[in-house]
Amino acid sequence: MTVEQPLRIGILGSGNGSNCEAILRACASGQLPGQVAAVISDSADALILQRARQRNIPATFVGPSQFKTKLEPELEQQIVSLLHTAKVNLVVLAGYMRVVKSPLLTAFAGRIINVHPSLLPAFPGLKAWEQALNYGARVTGVTVHFVNEGIDAGPVILQQPLAILPDDTAESLHQRIQIVEHTLLPEAIRLFALGKLQITGRRVQILE
Ligand code: GAR
Repeated sequence: MTVEQPLRIGILGSGNGSNCEAILRACASGQLPGQVAAVISDSADALILQRARQRNIPATFVGPSQFKTKLEPELEQQIVSLLHTAKVNLVVLAGYMRVVKSPLLTAFAGRIINVHPSLLPAFPGLKAWEQALNYGARVTGVTVHFVNEGIDAGPVILQQPLAILPDDTAESLHQRIQIVEHTLLPEAIRLFALGKLQITGRRVQILE
């Protein structure tokens, strides 16, 4: 896929924003050839918005919604307008706790990626680290994938496994998962920025 340069990233998140922070750091260090052009949240007081504002990046709350797991099409259309105004060419879901639908999905087809805290297709949905722990799995991990109309179901870009330790709690496991996320997500964005990701059906080829 050809990518317009420089890459302008729009980040959607619902909470703490540590993945947003990792992307900002990777851009600032030059490791990632791109810049964060907009941050959008479905939660007015989310830390992710504060992190963006501290760096003078446009940061907007879009809501409130009457739904918990998706947005009304009119609110999604507001997000699309904000992303277009910021000339965004890649949308990153970094802890965004709603399902993306049309019009956002169609406006940015093949240009939305998500980080998920498990080795998909195991443990889609909420609190995947807790699901893995409660299931008794010995290995979980992190997946970065393109977003499609399914829930945590799009073509996989990168995955990294992580052992679940005998004395792990949900908190300790999520902490280690987040450390992995903070390198895997910027790396997937870097590959996208360099035009090295080619989607063929369900498979993503990483070009040399
Ligand atoms: C991350 O662990 C991310 O993988 C997860 O939410 C956390 C957000 O952390 N996302 C999901 O579970 C989406 N299904 P952050 O706000 O510190 O980046």
